[in-house]
Amino acid sequence: MTTLNLTINGQKHGPIEVRDDLSMNDFLREMLGMTGTKFGCGAAQCLSCAVIIDNPDGTSYTTPTCVVPAANFDGKAIRTVEGHAKDGELSALQRAFIDHFAFQCGYCTAGFLNEGQVLLELLAREPVARDQLETVIADALDGHLCRCTGYIKYHQAVRDVILADSKRYLTANK
Ligand code: FES
Ligand code: FES
Repeated sequence: MTTLNLTINGQKHGPIEVRDDLSMNDFLREMLGMTGTKFGCGAAQCLSCAVIIDNPDGTSYTTPTCVVPAANFDGKAIRTVEGHAKDGELSALQRAFIDHFAFQCGYCTAGFLNEGQVLLELLAREPVARDQLETVIADALDGHLCRCTGYIKYHQAVRDVILADSKRYLTANK
């Protein structure tokens, strides 16, 4: 057993005793009732289960939860799909996903949303030129599988959010 303390969407959880073989996905879904994080392939191949890990230095990255023990998240700060809307207001990325009809069944959406959010925050710190943007978005979303094949619409939605605030996300030369 491991005693788990972690922060999820800004709220502290723990101490909670978990089995060492309990996956993070089961911890979120079964123990905390946070079912926005999905379980797809169960083999670290589709990223429908991805959540954001926030580093102390302000950087962040996504990680699958299906094959990673909850115990590995002890002491970490993470964000899940439940944390994107603030005070009942959807984030710009959530709104863009809806505006573009980017998802159908929605099973992959939390993973795409978390990945897109990490990209937005990266570009806010390290803007890129406009002519690099398509590649940067494609590289960021690469690895997320959508069985309903919403890839292009997800890509377009992320691009629209970036172009709507280009001074923030893009360098001035393009
Ligand atoms: S369910 Fe975790 S990567 Fe597919
Ligand atoms: S919207 Fe169905 S898997 Fe992506």
